[in-house]
Amino acid sequence: MSIRIQEGGHEISGALKYMLKKFEKMPIKLCVDPEEGALHIARYIALAIRQKQQDNQYLVLGLATGSSPIKVYNELVRMHREEGLSFKNVVSFNLDEYYPLKADAQQSYVRFMHEYLFDHVDIDPANVHIPDGELPIEKVEQFCADYDKKIQFFGGLDIQILGIGRTGHIGFNEPGSWLSSKTRLVKLDHVTRVDAAKDFGKEENVPYRAITMGIQTIMSAKQIFIMAWGSHKAEIVREAIEGEVSEMVPATFLQGHANVKFYLDPRCRGRANSG
Ligand code: F6R
Repeated sequence: MSIRIQEGGHEISGALKYMLKKFEKMPIKLCVDPEEGALHIARYIALAIRQKQQDNQYLVLGLATGSSPIKVYNELVRMHREEGLSFKNVVSFNLDEYYPLKADAQQSYVRFMHEYLFDHVDIDPANVHIPDGELPIEKVEQFCADYDKKIQFFGGLDIQILGIGRTGHIGFNEPGSWLSSKTRLVKLDHVTRVDAAKDFGKEENVPYRAITMGIQTIMSAKQIFIMAWGSHKAEIVREAIEGEVSEMVPATFLQGHANVKFYLDPRCRGRANSG
């Protein structure tokens, strides 16, 4: 007989809970809702920032765009406004940017980061790093090599936050990306371009390429938080946390990271296993 318990407002059976645990190859945190997950991650980041402040050191943050981390940024902004959390000792490196794309384009990740975080906190603009979608093509390779070097110069990423795409991408490391990949110019998967079409009006307007941190760059982070909310991510999340490690689902590489946590809501984790 299975015991029924309440989890995140959804009732799931004890047997199902056991099944989920049995197949998980990386630690997960099943949150009541995205708000709970975002609060948890934002509090962890705030604590890390304050600890580094006490030691007079920088905190090096790897940042993601897209819908998944927006509530984390909202909470960090709130903490800055209401609790005096300062970002003066934060150095940030964003995961990716479409290529080519002007920084002032509506869809640019530069614009996104300013809208949701940088314009509302006291981070030093000189400490903000986002891949440059405006570079002439002949300068991209050097830019990417320098991006990885800069991360190392600051002592590596302390915390990296991630979302996951329907292709299983992290950053824009699409299926076929190698574990040893570094920051580079990549071709976007068709599914990723279809998903981005809503932001660009239509699919034809979505750039075919992007600059992204590599898998190796991401895996070098000391702590990784990855988030997925909603039933549309359930299938790829199941592959990421239960499947064999494979370059066809780049998020599976995270199974090999010593300090990763996957934040999910019940819509995202429940459904893939119930059928
Ligand atoms: C964004 C990024 C992507 C997104 C992923 C999920 O900087 O690197 O990997 O995290 O596509 O996007 P959302 O959160 O919009 O579902």
